[in-house]
Amino acid sequence: MSAPILALRGVSKSFGPIDVLHDITLEVRAGEVLCLLGDNGAGKSTLIKILSGVHQPTSGTIEMDGRTVTFDTPRAAADRGIATVHQFGGTFPLMSIGRSFFVGAEPTKRWGPLRIYDRRTANEIAVKAVRDFGITRIDDGDRLVGGLSGGERQALAIARALHFGARVLILDEPTAALGVKQATHVLRIVNEAKRRGLAVIFITHQVMHAMSVGDHFTVLIRGAVAADFRKGEKTREEITDLMAGGASMASLEAEIEGYMASHEGHPPPPHA
Ligand SMILES: Nc1ncnc2c1ncn2[C@@H]1O[C@H](COP(=O)(O)OP(=O)(O)OP(=O)(O)O)[C@@H](O)[C@H]1O
Ligand SMILES: [Mg+2]
Repeated sequence: MSAPILALRGVSKSFGPIDVLHDITLEVRAGEVLCLLGDNGAGKSTLIKILSGVHQPTSGTIEMDGRTVTFDTPRAAADRGIATVHQFGGTFPLMSIGRSFFVGAEPTKRWGPLRIYDRRTANEIAVKAVRDFGITRIDDGDRLVGGLSGGERQALAIARALHFGARVLILDEPTAALGVKQATHVLRIVNEAKRRGLAVIFITHQVMHAMSVGDHFTVLIRGAVAADFRKGEKTREEITDLMAGGASMASLEAEIEGYMASHEGHPPPPHA
């Protein structure tokens, strides 16, 4: 196994009196997808905010290529090649595809004595990068990001990260609001990023999505690592139970599926 690109060593995080993360140790490697699983409020987003410079750990360290680093700002993490697509927002709906792809790093061209934003070049590069990921419906870099579908926006964000040489790609619930087809597309893009040698951290509540891309799984329960295993080491049922914070969900899920199969797809009434 290769050396980890990025690691947390004994990281804890408190917000005032609230302890959110306890003594977290984890490692991510090039060409691997680490799935971060856990119930609502388990601390997943807080953990990735520490990895992306939004929050600083209360104790413990972050290592990159074996050396201790500090990310004082999101910019510092981004400069080290950590690209994060956060759970909520992150794109600018009123920006064009070309603009948002290059925000902060716009290509320029000479215009008399001045250098101005090179819209045509920006659009060409952005559209090509997104199409390389199979989103062939996008052919106009002037289109506004706000008019893209959720899956297309994810593709744009991931393509952008790769274009700017990210080594670690962090995706916080990229498939949560997507339909089956769009989610499948994002999962394909995750596999493509992995094939290109990125380390990916992927957060999801959907066990099948996790199982279809994950090489390595870390489960958080109430801010602590409750399980850490590799692909093939646990069944779908075991993973489902762990994701629900250790409750026995898999049997309930099977019961509901069975009921729906025999009742024309209707869910059971409460207290059935
Ligand atoms: N800035 C903050 N101040 C105080 N508490 C916070 C802060 N950010 C997060 N928390 C708390 O930390 C806990 C973990 O939140 P977090 O967003 O990391 O969970 P999550 O695992 O991402 O959940 P979800 O699956 O719902 O996205 C929650 O109880 C939350 O209220
Ligand atoms: Mg979250």
